[in-house]
Amino acid sequence: MDGIGYEFMEKSKNKYMSESFQKRGFPQPPLELPYETSIQTIPLVPSEQLPPYQIELKTAIEKRKTLRRYQQTSLSLEELTYLLWITQGVREVSETTRTSRNVPSAGARHAFETYLVINRVDGLNPGLYRYLSIEHALLPINADPEISRKVFQACLNQQHVLNSAVTFVWVAVKERMYWRYGERGYRYLYLDAGHVCQNLYLGAEAVGCGVCAIAAFEDDQLNTVLGLDGDNHFAIYLGSVGKR
Ligand SMILES: Cc1cc2nc3c(=O)[nH]c(=O)nc-3n(C[C@H](O)[C@H](O)[C@H](O)COP(=O)(O)O)c2cc1C
Repeated sequence: MDGIGYEFMEKSKNKYMSESFQKRGFPQPPLELPYETSIQTIPLVPSEQLPPYQIELKTAIEKRKTLRRYQQTSLSLEELTYLLWITQGVREVSETTRTSRNVPSAGARHAFETYLVINRVDGLNPGLYRYLSIEHALLPINADPEISRKVFQACLNQQHVLNSAVTFVWVAVKERMYWRYGERGYRYLYLDAGHVCQNLYLGAEAVGCGVCAIAAFEDDQLNTVLGLDGDNHFAIYLGSVGKR
């Protein structure tokens, strides 16, 4: 057997893992990427105050299918807040400095930051934002009117990115996972990402939206557009969202 995939699977077997940064006594990386605190953030409605957006779980699972064509209708900020809450919302920051969220994560490392390419959300100017999951707020990052087009191009011209009301971009912060699991942690990043996107798919059913998961993109191009170094911080998975 040869090939890079085989090599990765082989060399990331547990038996080859050396002592982790955690075991060697290195400090834990922060739970959230730092940000420029002088930037005005946009507070979001706490989850308890959101409308119930109810749907039977079985119905949501059975109705779910990938949607690539969306209505031109906007999402409300509350609907977007709900989707952020169910995908990365922080329920608790414990004293052992870990977050408990609405998705599972290997070792509760929760190594993602959620970036949003906003096209049509009531009350938000189009542009690139980051969800501050601990503060439950949005951080404007880039108001470039071309940002959506640039992400679309980096996603191999997939039209649904451009036509979405919002496209979620899950950015891996490698060090948060690596600190505990070393090279094997890469596997866990990809597994964790699947859980997050599945919650988006199911939750979208409750707000009249559909989702398209996206893993086909030019890594370097997308990371450059998002202002990520591509090594420690990199886009791992996306989901375009829009009204049915
Ligand atoms: C890991 C993953 C990556 C995907 N990447 C893309 C993508 O880049 N572009 C796209 O149009 N669909 C993408 N999809 C959507 C799949 O094509 C879709 O889930 C599949 O055809 C099954 O259809 P269904 O979701 O309606 O059941 C992806 C799905 C998954 C789970």
